[in-house]
Amino acid sequence: MCGIIGYSGSSEEVVDILLEGLSKLEYRGYDSAGVAFIDKKKNKIQIEKKEGKLNNLVMHLEDKKIKSSIGIGHTRWATHGVPTDKNSHPHYSEKRDVALVHNGIVENYAELKKDLLAKGINFNSDTDSEVVAQLFSVVYNGDLLESLDKVLKEVRGTYALAIIHEDFPDKMLCAKKHSPLIIGIGEDQNFVASDVSAILKYTRDVIFLEDGDRAIVEKNSVKIYNSKNKEVKREMKKVEWNYEQASKGGYEHFMIKEIEEQPEIVQKTLDIYTNEEKDIKFDEQLEGINFHNINKIYIVACGTAYYTGLQGQYFLKEVLGIDIFTDIASEFRYNEPIIDDKTLAIFVSQSGETLDTLLSLKYAKEKGAKTLAISNVLGSTISRIADNCIYTLAGPEISVASTKAYSSQVLVLYLLTLYIASKLGKINEAKYIKYIEDIELLKNNMEEIISNKNNIHEVAKKIKNTRNGFYLGRGIDEKVAREGSLKMKEINYIHTEALPAGELKHGSIALIEEGVLVVAISTIPSMAEKILSNIKEVKARGAYVVGLATKDMNIETVGDEVIEISETGELLTPLLAVIALQYLAYYTSVEKGLDVDKPRNLAKSVTVE
Ligand code: F6R
Repeated sequence: MCGIIGYSGSSEEVVDILLEGLSKLEYRGYDSAGVAFIDKKKNKIQIEKKEGKLNNLVMHLEDKKIKSSIGIGHTRWATHGVPTDKNSHPHYSEKRDVALVHNGIVENYAELKKDLLAKGINFNSDTDSEVVAQLFSVVYNGDLLESLDKVLKEVRGTYALAIIHEDFPDKMLCAKKHSPLIIGIGEDQNFVASDVSAILKYTRDVIFLEDGDRAIVEKNSVKIYNSKNKEVKREMKKVEWNYEQASKGGYEHFMIKEIEEQPEIVQKTLDIYTNEEKDIKFDEQLEGINFHNINKIYIVACGTAYYTGLQGQYFLKEVLGIDIFTDIASEFRYNEPIIDDKTLAIFVSQSGETLDTLLSLKYAKEKGAKTLAISNVLGSTISRIADNCIYTLAGPEISVASTKAYSSQVLVLYLLTLYIASKLGKINEAKYIKYIEDIELLKNNMEEIISNKNNIHEVAKKIKNTRNGFYLGRGIDEKVAREGSLKMKEINYIHTEALPAGELKHGSIALIEEGVLVVAISTIPSMAEKILSNIKEVKARGAYVVGLATKDMNIETVGDEVIEISETGELLTPLLAVIALQYLAYYTSVEKGLDVDKPRNLAKSVTVE
């Protein structure tokens, strides 16, 4: 949460570069935004910052004609201190010799602030981050690295920091602990950023800093030091993502662009992870895991990624017949999971930075599990800490509501299931081939939904004023219901609850009255009649029913609205149903005139517990 960027280079247009980077990082938080740069003529640091979305800052800077070739920027998701101009980053020290941006939490900030107040330092904000700027200024001895080391020895918590000092108008300092930070290597220019999307316009050559690292970044030099202040070399990697992927490319919102990228991602996943013989190419990613020795699998994740885990659990159980558990990452460690060296623990995370998932990963590792990350971001913390990693191939996901990450994660879990099943001889060839062919069918049927999206838009127009509702399903459709409900909640502020359809009558049906929305999902033929009965129960009490079903489920006999999807194999039809629900949430949000890509209170990368 919070996005940071820094630049040192030959361009004098630092503000434009920082604003461009912040526009790509805004999904990390949008309570306020700000930039700091060194006015080289006066040798003074200048800060410009504004509460609210980045556009407020852009408008504020419009006529300022700033020229500088070094600067730092920040987009905030507020933790300490309400979103106001003064609590926005960057923060100055009292003397204004230092400015910094911070992503993370300084846990002992109150203690440090008390000491600084006792020394007569005046504070300007309520944030934990300002304490670091003030402390830096107090301990500063003319040597940037030594001063930073002194500061970091005092600070407890998590941080990605970028710092500038008026004495060094060409140098930018940065440091990382438990919050993501990368260095981008350009020509006559170098960058620091929370993630690669911020700098893709300028470079794809990236160094991923490790925890404890700090660095001095200048336009033609990058020096990295470890936590003992010893200079170290870190490998430079080329990221495959490109600038266009992180741009809207003519779409009105990132969310719809990302929904519609899904067929392409399915194809890419097949192209990269299977060969012509339809073998799954996970040998390298899963090296060192002996599946014959695994007798239990945990899947751990948060939010949408957790729901993909539930789908994955369903696949794995269906073909492997061993114990599979899925848990929410913020609960996992407290549920006292029974883990040993025969346990495989899988951590699903688009960003690869979600703190709860990361802490669960560390916990499982300590208990002796084999750990596998499924992540979308090259070099993310979770991908590096896990024993093994399979990358999803979704490309940068910018919309806060996750869509394409969901399907790419489900697909990887599906392939993983087939891979393990074939390694263990638990699947016959005909079934294996059918499952792989279903992936091709999935792509075609996704395209079909995309071309029929206007029907879903019409349904959205009818439900846009709903205040609350239920999403119902049975079996794997109940997992679909959970994801559909989450999408509706997060971008529409409509309270919906997902329930197993048969469970409703055990209490929650008391909430059904005239006009309450019920989205009922039916993709499993063996359960079709039962769900029809459940729909009749709610219809009899006045519910407005949107039926989402495959053909031949007779949903049109009971639904006020019907969204039809094509059958795509028993395991993948539910994934298709989720795409329809992504559209339903999307168009409802458009109809309500809400900020689809940046829903209130949320940030995409949740790096606090
Ligand atoms: C919902 C959404 C979140 C994330 C969750 C985990 O649309 O995006 O629920 O799925 O915060 O994030 P990652 O996958 O980055 O660990």
